[in-house]
Amino acid sequence: GVRTYRIDEQLLTDRLGLPQYERRSANAHKGTYGHALLAAGSRPMAGAGLLCAAAALRTGSGLVTWALPDALLAPMLGRLPEAMLRGMADAGRGDWSAVAPQSLYELAEDKAALAFGPGAGRWPGDAEWLRSVWTNTRCPLVLDADALNMIAAADDFAAWPRRTAPVVMTPHPGEMARLCGLDTAAVQRDRIRIARGYAVRHGVTLVLKGARTVVACPDGDVYINVTGNPGMATGGTGDVLTGIITGLLAQGFTATQAAALGVYLHGAAGDRAASGRMYTASLLAGDLLDVW
Ligand code: APR
Ligand code: MG
Repeated sequence: GVRTYRIDEQLLTDRLGLPQYERRSANAHKGTYGHALLAAGSRPMAGAGLLCAAAALRTGSGLVTWALPDALLAPMLGRLPEAMLRGMADAGRGDWSAVAPQSLYELAEDKAALAFGPGAGRWPGDAEWLRSVWTNTRCPLVLDADALNMIAAADDFAAWPRRTAPVVMTPHPGEMARLCGLDTAAVQRDRIRIARGYAVRHGVTLVLKGARTVVACPDGDVYINVTGNPGMATGGTGDVLTGIITGLLAQGFTATQAAALGVYLHGAAGDRAASGRMYTASLLAGDLLDVW
């Protein structure tokens, strides 16, 4: 039956794939660990894309491509030398509003996982745009931030076709409230039930962020994370989580594993980073990458 699990040492070992993650095969090459595609960032939120792509690299994806609006390509060149940058034709706007959805789904064709949303911004017709990417990609998909706001604004999300590859959605409580048509306080009063209901209804893995992040699976199982600290309440930590989950999906972990192991590792990195700082308040999202 449907169960609620606390993410602890035993669960990480028995079900969530931590031993496989920790043990890298001696014969590995970069093709072993997947190619992650992060479509993220726009002016002036290029940093969201940078953090997201860097996190996918730290997580261990063999290759990472960061897709970004063309106008951001030159300023971002050299900021993350390990990633492959792919500028998307943007009519000089520095955002996603003029990027053709087919240019993104064609780029995703040979990738092991795709993320869209951090620093994506909003534009007229964005929900239809996202529907096109959702429908025409065959790899696991992670949706965060503005991608979730686009879904909340779509009047027909329940009628979008079921994908064969999994979808992981990573709302903070405010984004969850918009997805459900509730207010944030109502979401926070009933986090587990609301996350589970959404996951089951829409056939997605739903990560409801915040202290004690809830991971709800399409089969109704729920995982509660206990790592992390309030120092992580700082801009950019969510973008790092998106990169981590996408990096794990690219390496072949299941959606449940990528989401639950991902939130655990993200919180653990936050705890380690905070312990090396003078104050919990001093934590920056980039610190999570430096301790990883
Ligand atoms: N304890 C543990 N973890 C926490 C805590 C806490 N008290 N507070 C925050 N976190 C974690 C969350 O669980 C989540 O993983 O930090 C991360 C914060 O993610 P977001 O809320 O998405 O924040 P972020 O994206 O970095 O910055 C805010 O996101 O959605 C957009 O419009 C929003 O621009 C804003 C941006
Ligand atoms: Mg966010």
